Amino acid sequence: MNFLEERIVKDGIVKEGNVLKVDSFLNHQMDIRLFDQIGEEFKKRFEGTPINKILTIEASGIGIACVAARQFDVPVIFAKKSKSINIEGEVYVAEVESFTHKCKNQVIVSKKFLNPDDNVLIIDDFLANGCALQGLISIVTSAGANVAGIGIVIEKGFQTGGQIIRNLGYHLESLAIVDEMDAATGNIIFREQ
Ligand code: G4P
Ligand code: NA
Ligand code: NA
Repeated sequence: MNFLEERIVKDGIVKEGNVLKVDSFLNHQMDIRLFDQIGEEFKKRFEGTPINKILTIEASGIGIACVAARQFDVPVIFAKKSKSINIEGEVYVAEVESFTHKCKNQVIVSKKFLNPDDNVLIIDDFLANGCALQGLISIVTSAGANVAGIGIVIEKGFQTGGQIIRNLGYHLESLAIVDEMDAATGNIIFREQ
């Protein structure tokens, strides 16, 4: 097990409905020493890949993205979730459906901050069905920019997102992939990488 898998086993809680609660260290209370290790690991996994911007989505991707950005020495852009229907023209927009929250959001990024010269690393805390990620990819593509890679902290390997994104040919690195988890026993099985 790597450092993250060990922490998930120690402090993660498997809930009914295939939800993994990691809010004591990842997405409510945040362990910044752990975040530093996560940032270093992303840096290793994308060594040699040109990256000049990191893109994430609010809210819980932002902390991870900022710490990772210290390693890459690049700015972070976070896509904003917006319920408004009339969005003015100077933004890239993608429609994102949340299976967990059963709602649709538009996510937006100002056109000022993405352009065709950019090599963008997309970062997020969770990958489940991949809707959020596909929205971010579509925003990068709309800008004519390059998706240099995708870094995920925890992928739920039993949901469809990871396979879809890999089949599209993207360089996706997930620091922990949960292939099975059981709310009754608390058991978590990680994919060998
Ligand atoms: P998808 O984007 O991969 O399709 O994910 P989905 O709609 O299924 O998930 C909706 C939200 O729930 C996302 O956060 C996602 O990160 C989070 N999520 C999915 N599965 C889990 C899980 O097992 N545990 C935890 N803790 N979170 C999970 P979001 O709506 O973007 O909200 P935010 O928290 O970033 O603001
Ligand atoms: Na989340
Ligand atoms: Na997120």
